[in-house]
Amino acid sequence: MPEVTADVRIRPLDELDLSGIVRIDEKITGIYRPDIWEQRVMFYTRRDPGASQVAEVAGNVVGFMLGDCRAGEFGLEEPSGWIERFGIDPDHRGKDLGRKLFDAACAHFRAEGAKSVRTLVDTNDTAVTGFLKAIGFGDSPLTALERQL
Ligand SMILES: CC(C)(COP(=O)(O)OP(=O)(O)OC[C@H]1O[C@@H](n2cnc3c(N)ncnc32)[C@H](O)[C@@H]1OP(=O)(O)O)[C@@H](O)C(=O)NCCC(=O)NCCS
Repeated sequence: MPEVTADVRIRPLDELDLSGIVRIDEKITGIYRPDIWEQRVMFYTRRDPGASQVAEVAGNVVGFMLGDCRAGEFGLEEPSGWIERFGIDPDHRGKDLGRKLFDAACAHFRAEGAKSVRTLVDTNDTAVTGFLKAIGFGDSPLTALERQL
């Protein structure tokens, strides 16, 4: 059941949300990239419908959180939620929308049997790291590694 508070609505992502997400991304990054977001929105709506969420205020999409529930990756057999991309319109921050999107995604992950939710973060990004800590993320025994090719 979608959550409705005043004129805020949290609901699952659908393909018609593409233009709203492109606009939010452009406001955050200054880059207009509809093709990239079209691929991502199609990917997430097909891979795990109901996991990814959007926030509407007065009928306009002002925030999104994309993710899915997966099992069997990295030797992890149990299902786990993954939060992969999110953004809140700068004009609508600080109103708990990020937390509400996360709570809705977690409700979906729990219903799919997940006992944990994971993400990756650039620890140089103190804003995103601060948000993730505030909504309850802590250090994981899994560590991201990389090398140059
Ligand atoms: C990070 C972001 C999602 C926060 O959204 P928001 O709706 O303003 O966050 P909320 O109002 O739900 O805040 C939830 C909690 O996070 C904390 N928080 C939010 N932004 C924070 C920040 N920049 N630094 C530290 N803590 C922060 C809040 O204080 C709140 O904590 P509290 O409940 O203990 O008071 C938003 O600022 C954003 O979209 N940033 C850009 C994200 C980005 O770069 N995305 C691209 C990568 S996919």
